[in-house]
Amino acid sequence: MEIIRDARQMQQWADSARIAGEKIACVPTMGYLHEGHLSLMREGRRRASKLAVSIFVNPAQFGPNEDLNSYPRDFERDCALMETVPVDVVFAPTPAVMYPPGFQTWIEVTEITQGLCGARRPGHFRGVATVVAKLFNIMKPHLAIFGEKDYQQLRTIERMVRDLNFDVEILGMPTVRERDGLAMSSRNAYLSPEWRTSALAISQALKAAAGRLAQGATHARELREAAQATLHEANGLNVQYLEVVDALTLKPVDRIEAPVLVAIAAFAGSTRLIDNCVLTPPVRHQRPPRA
Ligand code: PAJ
Repeated sequence: MEIIRDARQMQQWADSARIAGEKIACVPTMGYLHEGHLSLMREGRRRASKLAVSIFVNPAQFGPNEDLNSYPRDFERDCALMETVPVDVVFAPTPAVMYPPGFQTWIEVTEITQGLCGARRPGHFRGVATVVAKLFNIMKPHLAIFGEKDYQQLRTIERMVRDLNFDVEILGMPTVRERDGLAMSSRNAYLSPEWRTSALAISQALKAAAGRLAQGATHARELREAAQATLHEANGLNVQYLEVVDALTLKPVDRIEAPVLVAIAAFAGSTRLIDNCVLTPPVRHQRPPRA
């Protein structure tokens, strides 16, 4: 497994692979890898002949009061995990490589970033879109794989790729969970055993919303109430948002007539966790028209 820290060198690696007729899949990450990241890598391994992974804790997507400095990092452990996939090349730049002095060009995806995390983390998706665009120009992948765990991020990148004519196929992959349902996240490493127990309520709340839809709920309010009741029982969780939005536009919905995204962000102590699920309304039997 090759490790590259320089952007120009990474571009040369990608150019050589392309000239040799290889198909490049890329998986952008911030490291501290877990099974969720590895599932994306394994899919990349299946779908392409070369697999490139980036590890870069991107300062541009963290707010001033967020966890940039304490974000967990363990490059050696990450490398050992990537060897098991196996990964062909790791791009691990420093912030100075990605944002040299004088840097001043940013990408803003204006609509789909308005609500949910975008509303609570100003500048976050601008940082994500910009770094992902740079990674695409540096790693030159044919295919890039992202997790549905960060659903708004996935939709933002899809939008950017369409709007700016990036020649990259975007693939979304399902959220990988712990056995008890907690969505895997690098930030789970912050959780004390007590907060770990409370955090479980987030995925349980999503299940409660799904159950309510299966029982015949027709309005977003009913799903929100079902999820809220579960979250309420959890010890000390501080819910930042619990929303039911259209799964395509991410705009709020009232009646559920098309697939919806149920999305939750909550603080377990000082750890901010997010999770979501997409729910599709059942096809209800309609009365046949009168003869
Ligand atoms: P990071 O949080 O490290 O996640 C890297 C990729 O792994 C993202 O596509 C994310 O959605 C996916 N992922 C995380 N947890 C997952 C899980 N439990 N199941 C499936 N996929 C999961 O997301 C980022 O980094 C950054 O914003 C990045 C895109 C790298 C830009 O800096």
